Amino acid sequence: MENKAKGFTYVKTPFNYISFYEDGKWSEGVLREEDTITISSTSTALHYGQEAFEGLKAYRRKDGNINLFRVLDNAKRFQMSCERMMMPKIPYDIFIEAVKMTVLANNEFVPPYGSNSTLYIRPFMIGVGANLGLRPAKKYIFSVVVSPVSSYFEGPLKPVDMITSSIDRAAPHGTGHVKVGGNYAASLYAQVEAREKGYADTIFLDPATHTKIEEVGAANFFGITHEKAYITPKSPSILDSITNRTLRHIAFHMLALDVQECDIDIDALDHIDEAGACGTAAVVTPIGTITHLGHKHQFKYHKEMGPITKELYRIITGIQTGDIPDPSNWITIL
Ligand code: PLP
Ligand code: COI
Repeated sequence: MENKAKGFTYVKTPFNYISFYEDGKWSEGVLREEDTITISSTSTALHYGQEAFEGLKAYRRKDGNINLFRVLDNAKRFQMSCERMMMPKIPYDIFIEAVKMTVLANNEFVPPYGSNSTLYIRPFMIGVGANLGLRPAKKYIFSVVVSPVSSYFEGPLKPVDMITSSIDRAAPHGTGHVKVGGNYAASLYAQVEAREKGYADTIFLDPATHTKIEEVGAANFFGITHEKAYITPKSPSILDSITNRTLRHIAFHMLALDVQECDIDIDALDHIDEAGACGTAAVVTPIGTITHLGHKHQFKYHKEMGPITKELYRIITGIQTGDIPDPSNWITIL
C-alpha cells in the first residue's frame, strides 16, 4: 500500500460527505466525488465567519483495519462549537456515521501502518444562502473531507523553537474554547510573523494579562516539571484538546505522574524540564526553546525529546494504531 501523504497539505481524496440543512431539517448525507462547493456570495460563512470545524485522524492498524480515535469526543465538541456560532447541531450518531462513511470510502488513502502518516479527517459546517445582514443563516452545509497527512511540524521527535506573540487569537470571553474559523484567521498574522523569524510557530499568551501561556499555535501546551508533574494551562479561552485530555489520562493512570491544570507563567519556566505541543495535527511535538520579549528560554531537553515526552508519544501513538490496548474505550475499529 502506498503512502500518499505529502506533509500536512491537502491531497485530494476520491470521496467527501455532504449534507444540507434547510427549513429546520438535514438532508440525508451522501458521498460525492467533487470537492468544491458552490454557495451564495452573501453567505454568512464568507462575510461573518459563521463556521465551525473538527479535526481527527484515522490510523492504519498492523492487521490492516482502521482505527478512529475518540470520535465521540469530536462529535461533542463540534456540537459546542456549532451552538456557539448559532448553527444547528449535528446529532452524535450522524457525525460519527459521516466520519466512518468518508474514511471507508477513501480506504486506499489511509496511509500504511508504520509510515508515521495518517488520514486527517476534517468535518465542518458553514452558514450559506443569500443573507447580507448580520444574522444567523437559514441554510447550512455539513461536510467531511479527508486527506492523508504526515508531520505537522518538521518531525514529531525533534524539539522546535517557539516565540510568543503580542497579539491574541481569541478574547477573554470570546471563542477561544470552540473550534471556529475566526480564531484561526485571527492567529495567522502571528503564525506568519513567527515563521518569517525562523520559529516553528507562535505561543499565545492569556489575552487578559499576557503573562501566562495559553496555546501553541493550533495545539495545547504541556510541560513536565523537575518534580515529574504533567502541567498544562487551564483557561476559558483555550481549546479543550482531546489529545491533551488523553495525555493527562496516560500521565496519571499509566505513568503515575502528578497532573496539574494550572497557570504557567511565561517568565517562570525554570521548573519545566520538558515542554511540548499536543494536538491532532501536532501529535506530541517537543518544544526546545521559547523566545519571549527578546529572551530565549532553553528547556533542559532542548536538543532531543525528553524521556517522559517520549513515553507519552510512544503510548498515545501506540493506542491510536492499536499496538497498545485501549484503556478507556477510545478506539472505534472500522
Ligand atoms: N488548540 C487549538 C487552537 C487547536 O486548533 C487544536 C487542534 O485541534 C488543539 C488545541 C488540539 O486539539 P485536539 O487535541 O483535540 O486536536
Ligand atoms: C488539528 O490539530 O486538528 C487542527 O485543527 C490543527 C489545524 C489548524 C491544522
